[in-house]
Amino acid sequence: MPTTRYLAAARTVAKTLSTVLDQRTATDATMIRRWLLTENNERVWLFGVLDEQRLASLLPYTSQQTLHHLSTALHGKPVLISNTTGLRYAVLLTNPPQMPKSAVFPGLVRGQVVLGVSLYETAIQTTWQSLGHMLVTGKNGSGKSTFNRLLAYQALAEGHRLLLADPHGTSFPMLAEHPALFVPISQDGAEALALTQRALGECRNRSDLFRQMPGYPEDLEEYNRLVTRSGGEPLPRLVLILDEFNGLADEEPQLIQTCKILGREGRKFGVNLIFSTHDLTLQEIGRVRNQVRTVVAFHTDASSSVLKTLGVEAAKEIVYRRPGLAFTNRWGLVQTYFLDKQVLIDRAPSALLTEQEQQLVQQAISETQGQMSIPTLVGWGMSAWQARSLVEDWEQRGWLKKDPQRKNARFITPDLAEIAANTQAAQTLSNTSNTFIGGKS
Ligand SMILES: Nc1ncnc2c1ncn2[C@@H]1O[C@H](COP(=O)(O)OP(=O)(O)OP(=O)(O)O)[C@@H](O)[C@H]1O
Ligand SMILES: [Mg+2]
Repeated sequence: MPTTRYLAAARTVAKTLSTVLDQRTATDATMIRRWLLTENNERVWLFGVLDEQRLASLLPYTSQQTLHHLSTALHGKPVLISNTTGLRYAVLLTNPPQMPKSAVFPGLVRGQVVLGVSLYETAIQTTWQSLGHMLVTGKNGSGKSTFNRLLAYQALAEGHRLLLADPHGTSFPMLAEHPALFVPISQDGAEALALTQRALGECRNRSDLFRQMPGYPEDLEEYNRLVTRSGGEPLPRLVLILDEFNGLADEEPQLIQTCKILGREGRKFGVNLIFSTHDLTLQEIGRVRNQVRTVVAFHTDASSSVLKTLGVEAAKEIVYRRPGLAFTNRWGLVQTYFLDKQVLIDRAPSALLTEQEQQLVQQAISETQGQMSIPTLVGWGMSAWQARSLVEDWEQRGWLKKDPQRKNARFITPDLAEIAANTQAAQTLSNTSNTFIGGKS
């Protein structure tokens, strides 16, 4: 049994706890009926089961003071109370799980934003819609810009449009000429204001389009589903990343009000606002806080009360020298993925395909003259369900279109052919074979 390796440690812990219980006036070690050593998920626990029948009062055994005393005697190892199957002390003998020191970006996952890994190396990912507006904060050098580039890379690969503010010119210089930019990169408060106003104008255009659409779409995905069904063009998501947000807002106070309105209206029309700042002391943050769904806090010296209202109080514990480690309001501690900035310099994508998607496009071009209908995909080994969900998703992206001249079958569009060609060029440029993973999720 693997737990036998822990027998000696278990004896020492049991003896120490018993000594403390005997030392304290209101407790007695003989109240521990038995000791249990168990293993669960590679963790070994020692339980001291209390004899509840004989206990006159539980409090002396379960008070914070007693637990603290027990823990101190074990040099700080936590002593917990468990009450699921009878009252017992619980001490973890194996080391507590550690966050990985770094996590390399594993590759794109279609339709998802991948963010990093949490405890036990669980991958953290979500959709852009569910990510919502975001606040990214941390002291200088804590990893904000690296994280923002990770988001920008995935936004580009999905075919989203970017609106960037980079007053120091250090986060996104490699994207200055990028065709996916909705407007040129803003360098100061006035330009950032113009950029958010432009996004707000786009929301108003979209509002008209949504209103004309039978079926009353409630968000961008639904609108795109409806519009492509009637042969129209889907709308891209807009991702705004405002680096050094507080500095920008100091320069141009009107920026806050526009961001508040954009935050509120943008959710429905496919806008993600990302506020990035090292400074959480200013009022500005308070005024956009209500719009923010996801908070990512790297190493920070912000006050506990501010962090608490943002739901990331534990970010206080993150030490300097752990760049990329963040506390989030939604997934707890996350080691955010590291994406080498060189990847963005070498080949900032304007939409990219995953490896599997690329193969499908090649096959359609070489075998079916570009036709990619459900029966075609089923013929290539997909289930009917997978095939339907793929063609519907690609149709919404404007990648497939029905051709009335050819029995209304779906064919790949020039847009998709171009993305496939770009993907191929990007893959030839790069030697990293693991940049693309997964498929549609
Ligand atoms: N996720 C990560 N994994 C590993 N190292 C990282 C990660 N993120 C950042 N770093 C390292 O930390 C350094 C600082 O990162 P970055 O420039 O992103 O910080 P920042 O918060 O934007 O700083 P500033 O406030 O000065 O702009 C980088 O040079 C990078 O090497
Ligand atoms: Mg930075």
